[in-house]
Amino acid sequence: MGYLIDRFGRKIIYMRFSVTPRCNFNCIYCTSHVSDDRRTEEFTKDDMAFLFHTVSELGIEKVRITGGEPLLRGDIVDIVQSASINKNIKEIVLTTNGSLLKQFAQSLKDAGLTRVNISLDTLRREVFEKITQRDFFENVMDGVNASINVGLTPLKINTVLMKGINEEDIVPIAGLSLKYPVIVRFIELMPVGNDGFWKDHYMSFAEALDLIKRKYELSVGKGTKGEVADYYKIVGSEGKIGFITPVSQHFCATCNRIRITSTGKIYPCLFSKEIVDIWEAVKSQDSGEVVKLIKKSVKIKPAAHGAIEKDDKQFIENMKELGG
Ligand code: 5AD
Ligand code: SF4
Repeated sequence: MGYLIDRFGRKIIYMRFSVTPRCNFNCIYCTSHVSDDRRTEEFTKDDMAFLFHTVSELGIEKVRITGGEPLLRGDIVDIVQSASINKNIKEIVLTTNGSLLKQFAQSLKDAGLTRVNISLDTLRREVFEKITQRDFFENVMDGVNASINVGLTPLKINTVLMKGINEEDIVPIAGLSLKYPVIVRFIELMPVGNDGFWKDHYMSFAEALDLIKRKYELSVGKGTKGEVADYYKIVGSEGKIGFITPVSQHFCATCNRIRITSTGKIYPCLFSKEIVDIWEAVKSQDSGEVVKLIKKSVKIKPAAHGAIEKDDKQFIENMKELGG
């Protein structure tokens, strides 16, 4: 079995699959652009099973299932199951807004899901409503508890840093790692669409770290292999704290992933303008052609995305389609 290796020697062992662009939330940092994708159909669970099998033969070891909100797909448990039967795929992780997780947690675990990442940007109900435009705060907290209870662990909590919106939540969310065995990851806001939201609310990880250090004593540990950054631990805590810094310190040099949307578009990079379309090849179950196109997408994977600066043209066009 040959691995996928790009022009810069990066071994691609991680694929992210957005299984639907649909979402039951409307987060302020995610919604700014309406996709121009005219294909409304999504890959069926059989298409997904075929794709997982094909990529596992290409040496893919880790699969991420994302959205939109992946739990809006009624067949999500079957999708996870069909990934887990491939012996090369060692890790299957799902990113979710958590609102429907309580119902699904046990069956996802039984289907072979390794763990989940839940997006949670605030612990204040009214701010939650402002960010997501939905009144589902309790449902998400139930989802957090359910995933810990069924063993979808280590549970990661993703918090997007937004100046003027959730600064006051940074310390309390970091504090969750004291009480629970969770890994809290603060993510620097990335520009989605080009509407000024990013310019107004971007906050660097260094500022957030500073706030946390004022309240808690932290120790530093090396991130495990394949992780993007070092981890911090509040002294005496069960969990960990990490930072994902796509803006202030991009981690392109160790990027080991490509992204596939629910309509068969491969994005070699989150910021890619050059996209490879595998829809027809998957629909006709032509594995030779799918492999050829995946190899092409790896070949055009850029060395790095450009600097993200205040007046730059560098922004993500459609986060809902890509799933982060
Ligand atoms: N900047 C940073 N992270 C984002 N996400 C969605 N939009 C953005 C953005 N503009 C995150 C979500 C979720 C993951 C899928 O991507 O919070 O955790
Ligand atoms: Fe939905 Fe996630 Fe986008 Fe929020 S960030 S609108 S939960 S896809």
